Amino acid sequence: MVTALVAPVACSPSRSLGWGIVGYGWVARDYAAPAMLAAGHALRAVSDPSPAAREAARAAYPGAALHGDLAPMLADPAVQAIYVATPNHLHRAAVEACAAAGKAVLCEKPMAATLADAEAMAAAARRAGILYGTAFDQRHHPAHAAIREALSGGLIGTPTAIRIAYACWLGPGWSVTGEGDNWRADPARAGGGALMDLAPHGLDLADYLLGEPIETIAALTQRRVQDYAVDDGALLIGRTAGGVLVQMHVAYNCPDALPRRRLEVLGSTGQILAENTMGQDAGGRVTHTDRLGRSAALPVPDAEASPFARQMAAFARALASGDRTSFSASRDLHTMQLLHRAYAGDPACH
Ligand SMILES: NC(=O)c1ccc[n+]([C@@H]2O[C@H](COP(=O)([O-])OP(=O)(O)OC[C@H]3O[C@@H](n4cnc5c(N)ncnc54)[C@H](O)[C@@H]3O)[C@@H](O)[C@H]2O)c1
Repeated sequence: MVTALVAPVACSPSRSLGWGIVGYGWVARDYAAPAMLAAGHALRAVSDPSPAAREAARAAYPGAALHGDLAPMLADPAVQAIYVATPNHLHRAAVEACAAAGKAVLCEKPMAATLADAEAMAAAARRAGILYGTAFDQRHHPAHAAIREALSGGLIGTPTAIRIAYACWLGPGWSVTGEGDNWRADPARAGGGALMDLAPHGLDLADYLLGEPIETIAALTQRRVQDYAVDDGALLIGRTAGGVLVQMHVAYNCPDALPRRRLEVLGSTGQILAENTMGQDAGGRVTHTDRLGRSAALPVPDAEASPFARQMAAFARALASGDRTSFSASRDLHTMQLLHRAYAGDPACH
């Protein structure tokens, strides 16, 4: 059965797209695959070496071809775009193979486990001339779209700062599917810990909301609670070229029942607070406070639309139109460079 986590989004049948999925684990199964259907697209093929993952895909999508490796999917003309959702260290090989086969790729965040891998992926996409996008679903959250709109309309005057708290609990044995080991706690496969996993969302979101990237960054990490070799928390500070300050706390050591997903945008004449919008699902609450301290809910058009389904629809539009601005390998590479510099600048990481 296809899960009901993802509500349909408005789409045109002419934008229907045939997808392949590489890595049918948690995010592909619970979010991306249902989102493809909600966007009016088709899931044509799944590649995963795990028999259990392939069996789960077969049960949910009986029409999709199932493969233990990527090669048959690359040769399948019904597959026009490929979504890569393997552990981070395997993104590079999958994206390079897809690019060489001329397939468009939407690859999960972080772009890769290392900056060198991300550079190779961006180069492969450029060489092949394919559409490449890192799957920053939070760009497509309706609340975040409303905040971006409000900022560009001057609702809070000149934006001065963004403050983000984005945290969860990730113990050493964590796994959503109950399958396999916790690759997120392995530096070689994850490329880092809470900073590597959670901060890309915030860095990209700041870029999206402000319309300009962070240029300068510093971070301090911690290994405070969890018993593994990657950071379980980090504080980051950054500044955009235009001078907006960005502060972010990410963590794997915060119980999920506690308040842990908060986005504030401060401006010269007001503030916007978004609670529980950062994450995979629609919803959350957005409040605007004006210069006199009066607060009211910020209207969010299409508030219940799934960020994942909107992302899939946006990817299909970009592919059909040739527009390379809404998905950009060079922007995603810049985000990877920020992550690399954040780790490199922390003495605890040497
Ligand atoms: N955007 C988001 O909100 C979000 C949420 C969760 C995960 N992610 C990202 O998605 C990716 C996957 O995370 P997950 O939590 O779903 O992991 P997971 O461990 O649940 O699933 C990974 C899947 O990849 C498969 N796999 C392993 N090697 C493979 C290979 N060579 N070819 C094809 N498949 C292979 C595994 O068998 C497994 O089914 C990661 O990069 C993660 O950072 C993003």
